[in-house]
Parts: sequence; structure tokens; C-alpha cells
Amino acid sequence: MIICTGVGPGHLDFVTRGAAEHIANANVVAGFDAVVDVVRPLIPASAQIVTMGYRDQVAQLDVVAQLHHAGKRCVVVFMGDIHFSGFQFLERVERACGHAVEAMPGISSAQVMASRGKVCFDETTFVTFHRRGNLEPFKRHLVHVLEDARNAIVIPRPWDFMPKDIAAWLLAQGIAGDHPVEVWENLTRGDAEWRGTLAECTREFTDMSIMLIRTHTPMASQIEPPPAVATTTATTTAASPKAAS
Ligand SMILES: C[S@@+](CC[C@H](N)C(=O)[O-])C[C@H]1O[C@@H](n2cnc3c(N)ncnc32)[C@H](O)[C@@H]1O
Repeated sequence: MIICTGVGPGHLDFVTRGAAEHIANANVVAGFDAVVDVVRPLIPASAQIVTMGYRDQVAQLDVVAQLHHAGKRCVVVFMGDIHFSGFQFLERVERACGHAVEAMPGISSAQVMASRGKVCFDETTFVTFHRRGNLEPFKRHLVHVLEDARNAIVIPRPWDFMPKDIAAWLLAQGIAGDHPVEVWENLTRGDAEWRGTLAECTREFTDMSIMLIRTHTPMASQIEPPPAVATTTATTTAASPKAAS
């Protein structure tokens, strides 16, 4: 048996009960070092741990696939949620196993960012650059997101497209420099690492950072007016038939 599950990001507080149960019953727990470290307290002493990094992930996933085919209960842990910037790793797991595998949702750093920044996903778009391959479609999409007056939650690409590069690129595309921006290096901390504007976003951050670019024009509330206003409006309307026509 093999199952992939999101954990964290970065802290046991965000591990779902389902993920914790799978880990507690596992014969093998595998994943990137930093992700396995988060769930280490949940791994039974009897379980085999297979850690990996970017360079040896293919070889280590082959080891996990062999254990799975030998009948071991294997759990592959992913950072946050698999469905946010995790599909390329899922593809590697499935390639190693030779078949599709079950993927359990977790809590994404994007969701924690939304909570920390108090923005709603209805009005916010997630864009990741943390992937292998051509970034151009994702870059273009980010420009459209900001042009459409939505907030953007952005995962940078550690090796070549970090917050300062993203900001410089957006400015070069004609996006206004006064968009409010915050960068969080570790979402389990109480406050943002940095706050400023797009034009001011020129400093370095570590790989574990996520960016919120706010729209200039947040959506107005579309719920009914508060009760006091509603009563006043109703009275005015009743007293003035013209206003009601
Ligand atoms: C390959 S992406 C995977 C994202 C993950 N699937 C998720 O849902 O959060 C890894 C990147 O997510 C961001 N990230 C994950 N956890 C974070 C945290 N606790 N604080 C800040 N950024 C985080 C960092 O940009 C990190 O390099």
C-alpha cells in the first residue's frame, strides 16, 4: 500500500488527523528531509524512514516503490497540500510505482498565508513558480491576476525567481510599484518577515518564503447593509414613493 499525504506546512499544528493516523500505522515513511522532520514525532519507532533531497529523489522513490511492491504500508509526506505546487513530486512517486496513487489533502502554505494576511481566496489567486520547466505561462497569469484587481499569493522559485525577481519582472510589465506586498519566511511565526510595496521589494529571502501581493482596490462588501442602515433606508423608501419607483 502507498499513500501520499500533505503535512505541515512547517509545523505539526497543521497536520490533519487522517495524515497522522496513516503515519502512525506506517511501515515506511518517506519524503524530503524538512517535511519528514515535521512529522518525526508521529513516526513509530518500528517504521523505516526514507528521506531525500532534490538530487536523490528519483533513486529514493525507487526504494520506496520497491518496499510498496513488497507489501509494506508506505506513506509519502508532502509539504502542505499536494494540490498546491506538489504535482511534479506526485508524478515522480507515480512514475516510480508504475501506477496512480491515492493523494490525501493537507493544509497549504497558501491557505496559512491567506489566514495570516486576512485575505479571502474568493478574491485571491494562487500562483506558483516552484516547479521545473517553463515559467512564462505562470508569469503572464500573474500579470493578469493583478490587472484584474485580485490579490496574488505567490510561491517563488528558490533557484532563480525569488520575491525580488518577481517584483522587478512585474514592474517591467507595467504593474504599479505601489501594490502592498508582504513576504513571510516562516508562516508559523507571528508576523510577516517583511512588508512594503512592490517597488521596495528588493531584498533577499530564504527558500521558505511566500509572497502576498495585494490589489489596490479590494472588493467592496456585497452582503446586505448593516441593520441600522437597512432600517433607515426602508423608512426613507416608505416615506418617499418617488424613491421607490
Ligand atoms: C514545492 S512548494 C510546495 C508547497 C506546498 N505544497 C504547500 O501547499 O504549501 C514549497 C514552497 O512552499 C513555500 N512554503 C511552504 N511552507 C512554508 C512555510 N511554512 N512558510 C513559508 N513558505 C512556505 C515555500 O516557498 C517553499 O519553498
